[in-house]
Amino acid sequence: MRFEPARALRGEVVAPPDKSISHRAALLGAMSAQPVRITNYLHAADTTSTLNALRAIGAVIEVDCDEVVVRGAGLRGAREPDGAIDVGNAGTLMRLLPGWLAAQEGKDFELDGDASIRGRPVDRIAAPLRLMGASIEATDDRYPPFVVRGTSLQAIDYVLPVASAQVKSCVLLAGLLAEGTTRVTEPAPSRDHTERILAGAGVAIRRSGCDVSVTPVDELGGLDIVVPGDLSSAAFHIAAGVLVPDSQLVVCNAGVNWTRTGFLRILQRMGAIIIGDVEPLPEAGPGPDPCTGAVTAVEPVSDLDVTAGPLQATTVEPDEVALAIDELPLVALLGCFAEGETAVRGAGELRVKESDRIAGVVDGLRGLGAEIEATADGFVVSGTGGLRGGVIDARGDHRMAMLGAVAGLASREGVEVVGIEAAAVSYPGFAEDLARLA
Ligand code: S3P
Repeated sequence: MRFEPARALRGEVVAPPDKSISHRAALLGAMSAQPVRITNYLHAADTTSTLNALRAIGAVIEVDCDEVVVRGAGLRGAREPDGAIDVGNAGTLMRLLPGWLAAQEGKDFELDGDASIRGRPVDRIAAPLRLMGASIEATDDRYPPFVVRGTSLQAIDYVLPVASAQVKSCVLLAGLLAEGTTRVTEPAPSRDHTERILAGAGVAIRRSGCDVSVTPVDELGGLDIVVPGDLSSAAFHIAAGVLVPDSQLVVCNAGVNWTRTGFLRILQRMGAIIIGDVEPLPEAGPGPDPCTGAVTAVEPVSDLDVTAGPLQATTVEPDEVALAIDELPLVALLGCFAEGETAVRGAGELRVKESDRIAGVVDGLRGLGAEIEATADGFVVSGTGGLRGGVIDARGDHRMAMLGAVAGLASREGVEVVGIEAAAVSYPGFAEDLARLA
């Protein structure tokens, strides 16, 4: 699909429902013995994989366009599936679900997915789950397909080697069924949607600095979940609005939980003006209750006003990476237009996303005229005031497809994106929404 240079982006766009929260809402619904009603569930390839995977292990799920009702079998009631559970392209599903399955005593579960998922490591969840007593057999001890053999679990104190919300969530879910208090220590904060949903389900979940702890429960409490808009999807419109001169747009209903707004802070540092009611960083605002450490259950939302403007280069440091991980490809694109040298450091995790996003971003943007170099754990871009255009291959990765589209609107000659259909993994209707704004 071709994306021609745009003159100005105008109007409003509603952020599509959040992918991370939709996965979690459905999974927690399946773990609950009471029906869970989810409003504004994301209907995209990844989150449909989650519904189908949960059906395969016994959840009964009704889908109405704006509402999903999940009737689960309770914390210990997952059913052994007939064949392998197909996670499709969904890394979040692949890494969270085993936390629950590992505690299903005497039951075996095989998980597999598409070609991209077969290249994504699961040793990062196998390590803590084994410490809790679970048995996991993975291909080459690292990749899917892999088998989880459910057993009774013991609580652990686990220090995450890399900040990852997926691994943290997996251990916390296992901790709900383990004997004792499970504690996870993150090297830097990562998105905390699992913690917020668990807090809403009445679980005793506590945060103190970079430690999160959970104590087991017999069953989850009543849960009705309203999914906010996905800031990671909206980030593509926001970047387009910042880059295309004379643009002025409003992104409606964006989730602005502080653990997801790292990209907005980077943009602000680059000189962009984004106005909205964004959740403040914990030093200034919500955080856990200072006395009890109890986690908030609220997922804040805001409309965001975006205006185009000149950009300054910036360096994204390792401790900022987890809070902007899925938006870092956009930082490379913004860097092409900024004055000076923009760098991202400490983001080696980008190499094990839906594609190698360091290689994809560097090769892709260079093909459009960018001056960009890869490093082992990031990239360095020299701002040249713009981008020529050309052809970019999405490499089957939804965020690379959307990156190419935004590059096209901001470029001088337009961009052809090979494989734009990959966007449907997280944002079906993306190209239409972008075209409307342009
Ligand atoms: C996600 C966490 C991040 C992110 C992914 C979604 C989640 O991965 O890149 O798109 O929903 O927990 P990591 O936890 O591996 O950093």
